[in-house]
Amino acid sequence: MDNKLTIKDAKIKGAVVLVRTDYNVPLENGEIASDFRIRASLPTLNYLLEKGAKKIILISHLGRPEGARNKELSLKPVALKLAELLPGVPVDFVDDVSGPDVESAVAHLKKGSILLLENLRFYPGEEKNSDNFICEILDSTGANLFVQDGFAVIHRAHASTSAISKQLPVYAGLLLEKEVSTLEKLLKKPEKPFTLLLGGAKVDDKAPLIEKFKPLADSICIGGKIAADGVVKPDEKTYVAEDFDEDAAGNKLDCGPLSTHHFLETLKSSKTVLWNGLLGKAEDPAYATSSTLVLKTLGESDGITSVICGGDTTGFAEEMMKSYPDLRFSLLSTGGGAALELLSGKTLPGLEAVEDKA
Ligand code: 3PG
Repeated sequence: MDNKLTIKDAKIKGAVVLVRTDYNVPLENGEIASDFRIRASLPTLNYLLEKGAKKIILISHLGRPEGARNKELSLKPVALKLAELLPGVPVDFVDDVSGPDVESAVAHLKKGSILLLENLRFYPGEEKNSDNFICEILDSTGANLFVQDGFAVIHRAHASTSAISKQLPVYAGLLLEKEVSTLEKLLKKPEKPFTLLLGGAKVDDKAPLIEKFKPLADSICIGGKIAADGVVKPDEKTYVAEDFDEDAAGNKLDCGPLSTHHFLETLKSSKTVLWNGLLGKAEDPAYATSSTLVLKTLGESDGITSVICGGDTTGFAEEMMKSYPDLRFSLLSTGGGAALELLSGKTLPGLEAVEDKA
């Protein structure tokens, strides 16, 4: 990330800025179930406001509407939430991404206000990585500065992550910069001892991480269903949970006290921990013990660089922080797939598209 341009390198004052965010938030009965990704975008928005951007226009996707309008996946509720989170900053919404309504909304947009456009994925051009589609957005908004801050979507080669770089230089926003530099440090220069803690259910998602981190990590601890199913084999570096809490039918639904003790002791003697995947069926409080103890150990320790990624794991952390607001982590990643792909060493189109420093 050191070699990429960020908004700190850009001339913000007087610019018409188009910011690609990832507001792909979970919805329940039409309501935003978690505003984590919206809050994560605030540092960049506040920075642009403070530095005197002339106009700030936001674009994002929500869900997978597959190129067609779907009013259940409108970004309008996100605009309302954003207004709540940015008191004193007017937030407008327009239900299109280009054309006369957008032109008029941009013309009326005052300095110090924000405009959110409609869901990019209502239009086939977004996922087709279409040059025309992104040019239409640029023409209608008059944007002359493009900021990529949608860390969670940079593993997709879409118009707003990839094709855009043929039209304007792409600057990284503060969220993108923080996520990428923290995750890259784990791959390049983790402070040792370094522990990789993995749980969850899908071994196919975890295998590339185990392979990538085997040479880098001092310890690998495995819990969750991948441990219960016995699909990861222990070795001199890899500890696989050995006891489990079971339901009446004998299903192994949480790591037991022996394994949890081993996890906690390993974490306490680590300087860096990367955690991906819950250690039990933690949505049921009866089987959340090992995940809760691990989370508290990481969140209460100042001496550990703690990086948590994966939607279920960060969602659990967010939920627990409502009861334990003092827990602190070095990074709760907003990216599920993007974080895993970056950590597995894959090239991410949305990161490639960010302009290199001269
Ligand atoms: C995510 O939630 O992982 C990103 O927003 C990307 O969404 P997608 O998997 O639908 O491309």
